[in-house]
Amino acid sequence: MSKKAFGIDIGGSGIKGAPVDLNTGELTADRVRIPTPQPSTPEAVADAVAELLSSFDLEEGMPVGVTFPAVIKAGVAQTAANVDDAWIGTDVDALLSERTGRDVFVVNDADAAGIAEVQFGAARDVPGVAMVITLGTGVGSATFVDGKLVPNTELGHLLLHGDSAERYMASSIREKEDLDWETWAGRLQEYFSHVEFLFSPTRFIVGGGVSKKHHKFLPLLDLKAEIVPAELRNEAGIVGAAALAHLERKALRKSEKKAAKKAEKKQAEAAATS
Ligand code: BGC
Repeated sequence: MSKKAFGIDIGGSGIKGAPVDLNTGELTADRVRIPTPQPSTPEAVADAVAELLSSFDLEEGMPVGVTFPAVIKAGVAQTAANVDDAWIGTDVDALLSERTGRDVFVVNDADAAGIAEVQFGAARDVPGVAMVITLGTGVGSATFVDGKLVPNTELGHLLLHGDSAERYMASSIREKEDLDWETWAGRLQEYFSHVEFLFSPTRFIVGGGVSKKHHKFLPLLDLKAEIVPAELRNEAGIVGAAALAHLERKALRKSEKKAAKKAEKKQAEAAATS
């Protein structure tokens, strides 16, 4: 049976979405992209997400997963490194569910990309610690232990030269400072050596748009762990968010059933003693 969910990737410049076949990790329709509203306040982004969803003819009740570049706990954004500060403290699950009339599940963008790599790409079947590091405007991380996610690890904010590492080695910094590949690779070497020293991963998987040019910088890095490009590239966020929304829905249904059984049992016990 085909399992489907809808994935949406909210980025600084664009909001992209498509339905995903969760058996294969493939998009089942062309991806739609709309520009991220500026300023990217919660209200404006929620309207854009609703607009994007309304351009698809989706089954009733299809779970929707959304990526967001912040720490997300129980659906609430806790940080806002490269997005509008108004997001801090926003219940993103509730806002997007209310605005779209669907059951929306939000997740950190790097965690979503990581889940996609674990299920369908370069992080599949990695024993021990696998780390997906996304190089973009900021630097995101998804950490897995035997395939299980440790959420919100935020390793782009490790301190390097007295500041968040992402301010030194993100892909956006390479562009802004017009660094050649060798100079940028030198910065990446410092970063990855530090992360390797702290976590001893089995494999690093490098994502973000720049990963399609991996041959320009990955061969320059010298690490004990394997370091490979992400396989899903542009679609990792959409696929991972959809996969997590489906899993979350399953977990929710399971706990609902468990609660219903518990209540039934309590009722039966009360009836027997009355
Ligand atoms: C944010 C992370 C995010 C990463 C990539 C960082 O600045 O703190 O939450 O995963 O950028 O977008």
